[in-house]
Amino acid sequence: MGVWYDPSIMADEKHRPRLLIVGASGFVGSRLALAARERFDVVCTGRRPPGEAGWVEIDITDAASVERAFEQARPRYVALLAAMSNIDRCEVERELAERVNVEGAVNVARACSRHGARLLFTSTDAVFDGTAGIYHEDDPPCPANFYGETKARAERAVADVLPSAVIVRLSLVLGTSAASGGNSYLEKVAGNLKAGNPIISPTYEVRNPIDVGTLCTLLTELLLEEGAAGIFHIGASDKISRYELARAIALRLGGDPALIVPQTEPVAGRAPRGRDDFLATTRLSQVCRTRVPTCQEVIERAVAMV
Ligand SMILES: NC(=O)c1ccc[n+]([C@@H]2O[C@H](COP(=O)([O-])OP(=O)(O)OC[C@H]3O[C@@H](n4cnc5c(N)ncnc54)[C@H](OP(=O)(O)O)[C@@H]3O)[C@@H](O)[C@H]2O)c1
Repeated sequence: MGVWYDPSIMADEKHRPRLLIVGASGFVGSRLALAARERFDVVCTGRRPPGEAGWVEIDITDAASVERAFEQARPRYVALLAAMSNIDRCEVERELAERVNVEGAVNVARACSRHGARLLFTSTDAVFDGTAGIYHEDDPPCPANFYGETKARAERAVADVLPSAVIVRLSLVLGTSAASGGNSYLEKVAGNLKAGNPIISPTYEVRNPIDVGTLCTLLTELLLEEGAAGIFHIGASDKISRYELARAIALRLGGDPALIVPQTEPVAGRAPRGRDDFLATTRLSQVCRTRVPTCQEVIERAVAMV
Protein backbone atom coordinates (compact mmCIF):
# COMPACT_ATOMS: atom_id res chain seq x y z
CA MET A 1 0.00 0.00 0.00
CA GLY A 2 1.30 3.50 -0.87
CA VAL A 3 1.73 6.50 1.40
CA TRP A 4 -1.76 7.44 2.49
CA TYR A 5 -1.42 10.24 4.97
CA ASP A 6 1.11 12.65 6.27
CA PRO A 7 -0.23 14.35 9.45
CA SER A 8 1.48 17.60 8.46
CA ILE A 9 -0.90 18.08 5.53
CA MET A 10 -3.63 19.35 7.83
CA ALA A 11 -1.31 21.78 9.64
CA ASP A 12 -0.82 24.68 7.27
CA GLU A 13 -4.22 25.15 5.75
CA LYS A 14 -3.66 28.91 6.00
CA HIS A 15 -0.91 28.73 3.40
CA ARG A 16 -2.29 26.09 1.08
CA PRO A 17 -5.91 25.85 -0.11
CA ARG A 18 -7.72 22.61 0.61
CA LEU A 19 -8.13 20.10 -2.23
CA LEU A 20 -10.57 17.21 -1.88
CA ILE A 21 -9.54 14.27 -4.06
CA VAL A 22 -12.59 12.13 -4.79
CA GLY A 23 -11.30 8.70 -5.83
CA ALA A 24 -7.94 8.87 -4.02
CA SER A 25 -7.80 5.07 -3.71
CA GLY A 26 -7.64 4.70 -7.51
CA PHE A 27 -4.71 4.87 -9.93
CA VAL A 28 -4.73 8.56 -10.90
CA GLY A 29 -6.24 9.78 -7.60
CA SER A 30 -3.55 8.10 -5.51
CA ARG A 31 -0.83 9.77 -7.61
CA LEU A 32 -2.54 13.17 -7.50
CA ALA A 33 -2.83 12.88 -3.70
CA LEU A 34 0.97 12.70 -3.51
CA ALA A 35 1.77 15.20 -6.28
CA ALA A 36 -0.66 17.91 -5.15
CA ARG A 37 0.71 18.22 -1.61
CA GLU A 38 3.18 20.86 -2.64
CA ARG A 39 0.41 23.27 -3.63
CA PHE A 40 -2.63 22.05 -1.65
CA ASP A 41 -3.76 20.89 1.75
CA VAL A 42 -4.92 17.49 0.43
CA VAL A 43 -7.88 15.56 1.83
CA CYS A 44 -8.50 12.12 0.32
CA THR A 45 -11.78 10.25 -0.05
CA GLY A 46 -12.59 6.59 -0.43
CA ARG A 47 -15.61 4.34 -0.08
CA ARG A 48 -13.64 2.43 2.54
CA PRO A 49 -11.12 4.99 3.85
CA PRO A 50 -8.18 3.69 5.90
CA GLY A 51 -9.57 5.29 9.09
CA GLU A 52 -6.84 7.90 9.43
CA ALA A 53 -6.92 11.68 9.60
CA GLY A 54 -6.68 13.19 6.14
CA TRP A 55 -9.32 10.79 4.79
CA VAL A 56 -13.09 11.08 4.61
CA GLU A 57 -15.61 8.49 3.50
CA ILE A 58 -17.66 9.09 0.36
CA ASP A 59 -20.00 7.17 -1.91
CA ILE A 60 -20.67 9.50 -4.81
CA THR A 61 -23.88 7.65 -5.74
CA ASP A 62 -25.34 8.81 -2.39
CA ALA A 63 -25.99 12.59 -2.29
CA ALA A 64 -26.13 12.56 1.54
CA SER A 65 -22.71 10.87 1.74
CA VAL A 66 -21.28 13.48 -0.65
CA GLU A 67 -22.72 16.32 1.45
CA ARG A 68 -21.28 14.79 4.66
CA ALA A 69 -17.83 14.55 3.05
CA PHE A 70 -17.98 18.20 1.92
CA GLU A 71 -19.08 19.33 5.39
CA GLN A 72 -16.16 17.46 6.95
CA ALA A 73 -13.54 18.56 4.43
CA ARG A 74 -14.76 22.08 3.51
CA PRO A 75 -12.75 22.07 0.26
CA ARG A 76 -11.84 25.07 -1.87
CA TYR A 77 -10.93 22.74 -4.78
CA VAL A 78 -12.29 19.32 -5.77
CA ALA A 79 -10.75 16.80 -8.20
CA LEU A 80 -13.32 14.18 -9.21
CA LEU A 81 -11.45 11.03 -10.27
CA ALA A 82 -13.91 8.48 -8.90
CA ALA A 83 -15.60 6.53 -11.66
CA MET A 84 -16.48 3.10 -12.92
CA SER A 85 -13.51 3.16 -15.29
CA ASN A 86 -13.52 -0.41 -16.65
CA ILE A 87 -14.96 -0.12 -20.17
CA ASP A 88 -16.01 -3.77 -20.50
CA ARG A 89 -17.65 -3.78 -17.06
CA CYS A 90 -19.62 -0.62 -17.91
CA GLU A 91 -20.91 -2.32 -21.06
CA VAL A 92 -22.60 -5.11 -19.05
CA GLU A 93 -23.32 -3.41 -15.69
CA ARG A 94 -25.07 -0.44 -17.26
CA GLU A 95 -27.29 0.56 -14.36
CA LEU A 96 -24.35 0.76 -11.96
CA ALA A 97 -22.21 2.57 -14.57
CA GLU A 98 -24.95 5.19 -14.99
CA ARG A 99 -25.28 5.61 -11.20
CA VAL A 100 -21.56 6.05 -10.58
CA ASN A 101 -20.44 7.91 -13.71
CA VAL A 102 -23.43 10.18 -14.28
CA GLU A 103 -25.44 10.50 -11.04
CA GLY A 104 -22.25 10.40 -8.96
CA ALA A 105 -20.70 13.23 -11.00
CA VAL A 106 -23.88 15.30 -10.67
CA ASN A 107 -23.94 14.76 -6.89
CA VAL A 108 -20.36 16.05 -6.61
CA ALA A 109 -20.99 19.00 -8.97
CA ARG A 110 -24.06 20.01 -6.94
CA ALA A 111 -22.06 19.84 -3.69
CA CYS A 112 -19.33 22.01 -5.29
CA SER A 113 -22.00 24.52 -6.30
CA ARG A 114 -23.48 24.60 -2.77
CA HIS A 115 -20.08 24.92 -1.08
CA GLY A 116 -18.47 27.31 -3.59
CA ALA A 117 -15.71 24.83 -4.51
CA ARG A 118 -13.88 24.78 -7.85
CA LEU A 119 -14.35 21.41 -9.63
CA LEU A 120 -12.11 19.48 -11.99
CA PHE A 121 -13.92 16.47 -13.50
CA THR A 122 -12.13 13.68 -15.40
CA SER A 123 -13.66 12.36 -18.60
CA THR A 124 -12.30 10.31 -21.48
CA ASP A 125 -11.47 10.10 -25.19
CA ALA A 126 -14.16 7.38 -25.29
CA VAL A 127 -16.76 10.12 -25.72
CA PHE A 128 -15.63 9.85 -29.38
CA ASP A 129 -15.99 6.84 -31.69
CA GLY A 130 -12.49 7.17 -33.18
CA THR A 131 -13.56 7.46 -36.82
CA ALA A 132 -12.31 11.04 -37.36
CA GLY A 133 -8.66 10.54 -36.33
CA ILE A 134 -8.45 13.88 -34.52
CA TYR A 135 -10.80 15.44 -31.98
CA HIS A 136 -11.02 18.98 -30.62
CA GLU A 137 -12.85 20.06 -27.47
CA ASP A 138 -15.88 21.40 -29.34
CA ASP A 139 -16.41 18.33 -31.55
CA PRO A 140 -19.77 16.71 -30.69
CA PRO A 141 -19.46 13.52 -28.60
CA CYS A 142 -20.26 10.27 -30.46
CA PRO A 143 -19.35 7.40 -28.09
CA ALA A 144 -18.74 3.85 -29.32
CA ASN A 145 -19.45 2.18 -25.97
CA PHE A 146 -21.60 2.60 -22.85
CA TYR A 147 -18.70 3.91 -20.73
CA GLY A 148 -18.25 6.73 -23.27
CA GLU A 149 -22.00 7.37 -23.23
CA THR A 150 -22.02 7.76 -19.44
CA LYS A 151 -19.03 10.13 -19.53
CA ALA A 152 -20.59 12.23 -22.33
CA ARG A 153 -23.82 12.53 -20.28
CA ALA A 154 -21.80 13.39 -17.16
CA GLU A 155 -19.84 16.11 -19.01
CA ARG A 156 -23.08 17.82 -20.07
CA ALA A 157 -24.65 17.49 -16.61
CA VAL A 158 -21.55 18.78 -14.79
CA ALA A 159 -21.30 21.79 -17.13
CA ASP A 160 -25.02 22.53 -16.61
CA VAL A 161 -24.73 22.44 -12.81
CA LEU A 162 -21.37 24.23 -12.66
CA PRO A 163 -20.38 26.15 -15.80
CA SER A 164 -17.04 27.09 -14.17
CA ALA A 165 -16.01 23.41 -13.87
CA VAL A 166 -12.93 22.16 -15.70
CA ILE A 167 -13.67 18.96 -17.64
CA VAL A 168 -10.57 17.04 -18.63
CA ARG A 169 -10.69 14.35 -21.33
CA LEU A 170 -7.91 11.79 -21.06
CA SER A 171 -6.72 9.14 -23.40
CA LEU A 172 -4.73 6.25 -21.92
CA VAL A 173 -2.92 7.16 -18.67
CA LEU A 174 0.46 5.43 -18.18
CA GLY A 175 2.18 4.91 -14.83
CA THR A 176 1.89 3.02 -11.58
CA SER A 177 -0.67 3.50 -8.84
CA ALA A 178 0.38 4.70 -5.38
CA ALA A 179 -2.48 2.62 -3.96
CA SER A 180 -2.88 -1.14 -3.91
CA GLY A 181 -5.11 -1.32 -6.98
CA GLY A 182 -6.60 0.75 -9.75
CA ASN A 183 -6.91 0.94 -13.48
CA SER A 184 -3.24 1.04 -14.59
CA TYR A 185 -2.60 -0.44 -18.06
CA LEU A 186 1.19 -0.25 -17.55
CA GLU A 187 1.00 -2.36 -14.37
CA LYS A 188 -1.04 -5.01 -16.23
CA VAL A 189 1.50 -5.11 -19.09
CA ALA A 190 4.45 -5.25 -16.67
CA GLY A 191 2.79 -8.04 -14.65
CA ASN A 192 2.08 -10.14 -17.75
CA LEU A 193 5.60 -9.63 -19.12
CA LYS A 194 7.04 -10.80 -15.83
CA ALA A 195 4.75 -13.85 -15.80
CA GLY A 196 5.60 -14.65 -19.44
CA ASN A 197 1.96 -14.28 -20.52
CA PRO A 198 1.11 -13.17 -24.10
CA ILE A 199 -0.34 -9.67 -24.33
CA ILE A 200 -2.87 -9.39 -27.15
CA SER A 201 -2.64 -5.80 -28.42
CA PRO A 202 -4.76 -4.12 -31.10
CA THR A 203 -2.79 -2.72 -34.03
CA TYR A 204 -5.80 -0.62 -35.08
CA GLU A 205 -6.45 1.24 -31.79
CA VAL A 206 -4.46 4.45 -31.85
CA ARG A 207 -4.15 6.74 -28.83
CA ASN A 208 -2.20 9.74 -27.48
CA PRO A 209 -1.34 8.57 -23.97
CA ILE A 210 -0.13 10.70 -21.07
CA ASP A 211 2.12 9.66 -18.17
CA VAL A 212 0.52 10.05 -14.77
CA GLY A 213 3.29 12.37 -13.47
CA THR A 214 2.83 14.93 -16.25
CA LEU A 215 -0.93 14.50 -15.94
CA CYS A 216 -0.89 15.40 -12.23
CA THR A 217 1.19 18.53 -12.95
CA LEU A 218 -1.30 19.59 -15.63
CA LEU A 219 -4.31 18.88 -13.39
CA THR A 220 -2.76 21.05 -10.66
CA GLU A 221 -2.14 23.88 -13.12
CA LEU A 222 -5.71 23.69 -14.43
CA LEU A 223 -7.15 23.71 -10.91
CA LEU A 224 -5.14 26.79 -9.92
CA GLU A 225 -5.87 28.64 -13.19
CA GLU A 226 -9.14 30.09 -11.90
CA GLY A 227 -10.13 31.53 -15.30
CA ALA A 228 -9.97 28.12 -17.00
CA ALA A 229 -13.37 26.49 -17.52
CA GLY A 230 -14.95 23.95 -19.83
CA ILE A 231 -13.34 21.06 -21.69
CA PHE A 232 -9.59 20.45 -22.03
CA HIS A 233 -7.96 17.54 -23.85
CA ILE A 234 -4.84 16.00 -22.29
CA GLY A 235 -2.58 13.59 -24.18
CA ALA A 236 0.76 13.32 -25.95
CA SER A 237 1.56 15.52 -28.96
CA ASP A 238 1.68 12.52 -31.30
CA LYS A 239 -0.02 9.12 -31.42
CA ILE A 240 0.80 5.43 -31.18
CA SER A 241 -1.08 2.14 -31.68
CA ARG A 242 -1.68 0.00 -28.63
CA TYR A 243 0.43 -2.73 -30.25
CA GLU A 244 3.41 -0.38 -30.76
CA LEU A 245 2.91 1.00 -27.26
CA ALA A 246 2.98 -2.46 -25.66
CA ARG A 247 6.13 -3.35 -27.65
CA ALA A 248 7.84 -0.11 -26.62
CA ILE A 249 7.01 -0.85 -22.96
CA ALA A 250 8.26 -4.45 -23.25
CA LEU A 251 11.55 -3.34 -24.83
CA ARG A 252 12.16 -0.65 -22.18
CA LEU A 253 11.30 -3.03 -19.33
CA GLY A 254 13.64 -5.69 -20.70
CA GLY A 255 10.70 -8.04 -21.36
CA ASP A 256 10.33 -10.35 -24.35
CA PRO A 257 8.74 -8.33 -27.21
CA ALA A 258 7.55 -11.62 -28.76
CA LEU A 259 4.97 -11.74 -25.94
CA ILE A 260 3.22 -8.75 -27.55
CA VAL A 261 0.80 -10.39 -29.99
CA PRO A 262 -0.77 -8.22 -32.71
CA GLN A 263 -4.55 -8.25 -32.85
CA THR A 264 -5.74 -6.92 -36.21
CA GLU A 265 -9.54 -7.03 -35.81
CA PRO A 266 -11.98 -6.51 -32.90
CA VAL A 267 -12.88 -9.66 -30.94
CA ALA A 268 -16.25 -10.73 -29.52
CA GLY A 269 -16.82 -10.14 -25.81
CA ARG A 270 -14.91 -6.87 -25.69
CA ALA A 271 -16.84 -3.59 -25.72
CA PRO A 272 -16.34 -1.60 -28.94
CA ARG A 273 -13.47 0.91 -28.85
CA GLY A 274 -12.62 3.89 -31.04
CA ARG A 275 -9.94 3.21 -33.64
CA ASP A 276 -8.15 6.57 -33.58
CA ASP A 277 -9.17 8.80 -30.68
CA PHE A 278 -6.34 11.37 -30.99
CA LEU A 279 -7.16 14.28 -28.67
CA ALA A 280 -5.84 17.64 -29.95
CA THR A 281 -4.31 19.60 -27.06
CA THR A 282 -4.03 23.15 -28.45
CA ARG A 283 -6.41 24.54 -25.82
CA LEU A 284 -4.39 22.98 -23.00
CA SER A 285 -1.17 24.56 -24.29
CA GLN A 286 -2.82 27.99 -24.25
CA VAL A 287 -3.49 27.72 -20.50
CA CYS A 288 -0.78 25.49 -18.98
CA ARG A 289 2.95 26.21 -18.73
CA THR A 290 3.90 22.53 -18.78
CA ARG A 291 4.80 21.39 -22.29
CA VAL A 292 2.76 18.58 -23.82
CA PRO A 293 5.19 15.63 -24.13
CA THR A 294 5.71 13.30 -27.09
CA CYS A 295 4.67 9.63 -26.91
CA GLN A 296 8.32 8.66 -26.48
CA GLU A 297 8.71 11.00 -23.49
CA VAL A 298 5.43 9.74 -22.02
CA ILE A 299 6.56 6.11 -22.29
CA GLU A 300 10.01 6.83 -20.81
CA ARG A 301 8.56 8.76 -17.85
CA ALA A 302 5.94 6.09 -17.16
CA VAL A 303 8.27 3.10 -17.47
CA ALA A 304 10.71 4.78 -15.04
CA MET A 305 8.00 4.35 -12.36
CA VAL A 306 7.95 0.54 -12.61
N1 LIG B 1 -6.66 5.14 -16.27
C1 LIG B 1 -6.85 5.55 -17.52
O1 LIG B 1 -6.10 5.14 -18.43
C2 LIG B 1 -7.96 6.53 -17.83
C3 LIG B 1 -8.15 6.88 -19.19
C4 LIG B 1 -9.15 7.80 -19.51
C5 LIG B 1 -9.93 8.35 -18.50
N2 LIG B 1 -9.74 7.98 -17.20
C6 LIG B 1 -10.60 8.59 -16.17
O2 LIG B 1 -9.77 9.12 -15.16
C7 LIG B 1 -10.38 9.00 -13.88
C8 LIG B 1 -9.47 8.23 -12.94
O3 LIG B 1 -9.27 6.93 -13.48
P1 LIG B 1 -8.43 5.81 -12.71
O4 LIG B 1 -7.72 5.05 -13.75
O5 LIG B 1 -7.69 6.41 -11.58
O6 LIG B 1 -9.64 4.90 -12.14
P2 LIG B 1 -9.57 3.74 -11.04
O7 LIG B 1 -8.17 3.35 -10.77
O8 LIG B 1 -10.53 2.69 -11.50
O9 LIG B 1 -10.13 4.43 -9.72
C9 LIG B 1 -11.50 4.70 -9.60
C10 LIG B 1 -11.77 5.31 -8.25
O10 LIG B 1 -13.18 5.56 -8.17
C11 LIG B 1 -13.61 5.17 -6.88
N3 LIG B 1 -15.05 4.89 -6.90
C12 LIG B 1 -15.70 4.01 -7.68
N4 LIG B 1 -17.02 4.04 -7.37
C13 LIG B 1 -17.18 4.95 -6.39
C14 LIG B 1 -18.29 5.43 -5.65
N5 LIG B 1 -19.53 4.98 -5.85
N6 LIG B 1 -18.09 6.39 -4.71
C15 LIG B 1 -16.84 6.87 -4.47
N7 LIG B 1 -15.74 6.44 -5.13
C16 LIG B 1 -15.92 5.49 -6.08
C17 LIG B 1 -12.76 3.97 -6.57
O11 LIG B 1 -12.82 3.76 -5.18
P3 LIG B 1 -12.82 2.28 -4.51
O12 LIG B 1 -11.38 2.06 -4.15
O13 LIG B 1 -13.70 2.44 -3.34
O14 LIG B 1 -13.33 1.33 -5.54
C18 LIG B 1 -11.40 4.46 -7.06
O15 LIG B 1 -10.79 5.27 -6.08
C19 LIG B 1 -11.75 8.34 -14.15
O16 LIG B 1 -12.72 9.35 -14.32
C20 LIG B 1 -11.53 7.62 -15.47
O17 LIG B 1 -12.75 7.43 -16.15
C21 LIG B 1 -8.77 7.08 -16.85
